Amino acid sequence: MIRTAVTEDLQLQVLRGRAPHNADESALIHGTVTQIERYASGVTILRICVEQGCKFAYKPGQYIEVKASDGRFRCFSLATSCLHEGCIELHIRRVADGLFSDRTVRGIERGDVLSWRGPFGDFGLHSDTVSKCAVFLCTGTGFAPVRAIVEEAFSRGWTRPMSLYWGGRTEDDLYMRDVVHSWTRTHGNFQFIPVLSRVGTDADAPRRTRVHEAVLHDFASFADVDVYACGAPAMVATAREALSSQRGLREEAFFADPFGATAPACATASNNVDVAQIKVNGIAYAAPLNESLLGALRCRGVAIPSVCGGRGACGTCLVEIDAASRARLPPPSRDERELLECLPEATDCSRLACQIRVDASTSGLALSVP
Ligand code: FES
Repeated sequence: MIRTAVTEDLQLQVLRGRAPHNADESALIHGTVTQIERYASGVTILRICVEQGCKFAYKPGQYIEVKASDGRFRCFSLATSCLHEGCIELHIRRVADGLFSDRTVRGIERGDVLSWRGPFGDFGLHSDTVSKCAVFLCTGTGFAPVRAIVEEAFSRGWTRPMSLYWGGRTEDDLYMRDVVHSWTRTHGNFQFIPVLSRVGTDADAPRRTRVHEAVLHDFASFADVDVYACGAPAMVATAREALSSQRGLREEAFFADPFGATAPACATASNNVDVAQIKVNGIAYAAPLNESLLGALRCRGVAIPSVCGGRGACGTCLVEIDAASRARLPPPSRDERELLECLPEATDCSRLACQIRVDASTSGLALSVP
């Protein structure tokens, strides 16, 4: 029986008991959800067994694109170094009231079948470099590909020192730290430095700062270090800049996978859907309802950057809401507020276009896109 989980602007086709049969799906890989773990931080871990007859292989650090019923794809890194008993593992962080990661993933059950394409990407382990040690930086579910890469290093018998700096707001964000602690016990060349941006009571006594600042503090020079970074693009960009300019990191020794995703496609941009009138830089656009502001305006040709694909993780979709229009919008969620606080260019009028839903009350909104 086909079950379709409806989200605000994304529908993930979830099928029970059989694979989808749409004409264009012959190249997709299908798998059955066999295990679901939900963490307090809002991260869900899915283990998905590849269906018999589907050939699927990947390199640690790569990602796949999971297919949605409206034809759109969401990107997720593969979180183990290889198939474990024929299964892949995905780490999915919930974005408040959002899209795929919230409503759809919340409804997934064991036995559901998902479809994806890939693998993609060239983020991965580089054994051929001359550096004497490796530093892994990640935030949140940026841990997923890092886990795959570190496991690969262990299996290749790496003896060079490896340090993992995993950042989050609270200890809950470091949702798999028991796995990482087990690495420290079994591999003398590996150390784990948890980094939290909020004060807490974690027995691990992690550092209270940001990931790149912790690394800057610990290393006088990066001339002989390889850096692998995965997480929010802002973190990746800041780390790269700071480590290069202040610690001599070589460009060829920085390997990164900022959270990337395909840009939201125009799902409902036909001319006969209900629209809200929205002014951007003084020009009026008819934006389809029930889209994110980001998706709705991009449907109408407004160029708004979106590195994270609308996941509320990158801050590149920043827009300035006219003061007179602000009352039309509900206040930002805690997640949006916290990301805005991290963006130096954000003002009191700034919002993330991917986090605003276009509805009837949005009509008349005026904003500017830098
Ligand atoms: S598109 Fe990344 S935060 Fe909005």
